[in-house]
Amino acid sequence: MDREYLDKMWEMGKIITSKSEVKVKIMLGEEDFSQVSGKPENFRDLFLSRYSKIKRILTGKVSISNVMDIDFIKKRDNETGTIVAMVREKLPTRYDYQILAEDPSGDIIVRLNSEMYDEILMDDIIAIRGKTRNGKFVAEDISYPGIDNIQKQEKIVKSENSIVFLSDIHVGSKNFLSSSFEKFIEWINSGKENARKVKYMIVSGDLVDGIGIYPGQEKDLEIDDIYQQYEKLSEYICKIRNDVDIFMIPGNHDLTRILEPQNKPPKPVIDMFPENVKFLTNPAYLSIEDLRILVYHGASLNDVADMVRGMKYEYTDRLMIELIKRRHLAPFYGRNVPISPLKNDVMVIEEIPDLFITGHIHLFKASLYRGILLLNASAWQKQTDYQKMMNLNPMPGYVAIKKLSSPGFETKNFTPGP
Ligand SMILES: [Fe+2]
Repeated sequence: MDREYLDKMWEMGKIITSKSEVKVKIMLGEEDFSQVSGKPENFRDLFLSRYSKIKRILTGKVSISNVMDIDFIKKRDNETGTIVAMVREKLPTRYDYQILAEDPSGDIIVRLNSEMYDEILMDDIIAIRGKTRNGKFVAEDISYPGIDNIQKQEKIVKSENSIVFLSDIHVGSKNFLSSSFEKFIEWINSGKENARKVKYMIVSGDLVDGIGIYPGQEKDLEIDDIYQQYEKLSEYICKIRNDVDIFMIPGNHDLTRILEPQNKPPKPVIDMFPENVKFLTNPAYLSIEDLRILVYHGASLNDVADMVRGMKYEYTDRLMIELIKRRHLAPFYGRNVPISPLKNDVMVIEEIPDLFITGHIHLFKASLYRGILLLNASAWQKQTDYQKMMNLNPMPGYVAIKKLSSPGFETKNFTPGP
């Protein structure tokens, strides 16, 4: 990542002085993404923004050189070079493994081997090294933006403080685990050493269960008014000692638009919560005491599980790695995640975080990938009938505690006993 860009991100970050008198910077999270229409040219702008950001990442890699525009290279036969292209179409494989690749200058048919063809998905933006032959481009090698030339060590920070991570509270659902959540609150207020050091809490979406999210949801609801659901959540949050800075992003069950990036919930909801609670957009990117944290609810993880060969919901860390590989939080257009056609595609992972946090899947999994600590944070809702039908076994009631001065996470389980 180039220095100039990093500096710009930091300049854009808003400094907040928290009650614990340390600095938190919000690089992404305070925006209002509403001001956009859904005209075709808006989508063109979005994809151009995505393309240019990912091209910059790709061309910054040492392994990639001799990059040419498609329009330039396709006019020359036997020309060797690299194109940076978006996969517009995977062509049928009756005779050959081919895709239609495009960049802002034009498009070209690319011939691949079967392995490359199987790896590539629609809308992927990749570098393809190869040679032109008879108006087509014959690929020798493909590269994803990924993070292969970034530091490999997990970052730790000199600090006594900790962050606690949770997700998918789903207040309002009949399946909300209120006694587990109360036990968690008791623990955080307990004064025990590990609990006392928690100065921050991050919740990665689905704060409440919402209304009308899926057909027949009303029979699963304990509270059938969304404002009352947030009031109930606020009652719980108010019990947490007020020197914990709490950051919450929305998910697909929350009261905001479903389009990603998602706005914060509306002001009447925000006003229900105490001063130490800060609502951010989904995704959000913040820095806590120099630890850079990317928080995304995770709706696109469903698409990754469906589309990437060999993937399953249970492999949550691998699903997250697939997003890092593409350097985009919702890389597949027209699937489960409706995307807002913004001029600036903020879903591109431009700056590599130290921690990448998601939720949504209702599992609990932490792992380390090339120096990035990954976490799919746990839910507070027991298995629903829908999950039972889909054979999904959630792992609710866990919290991950990140001591800023130590690698990895500590785990605490608040699941009710058998
Ligand atoms: Fe959820």
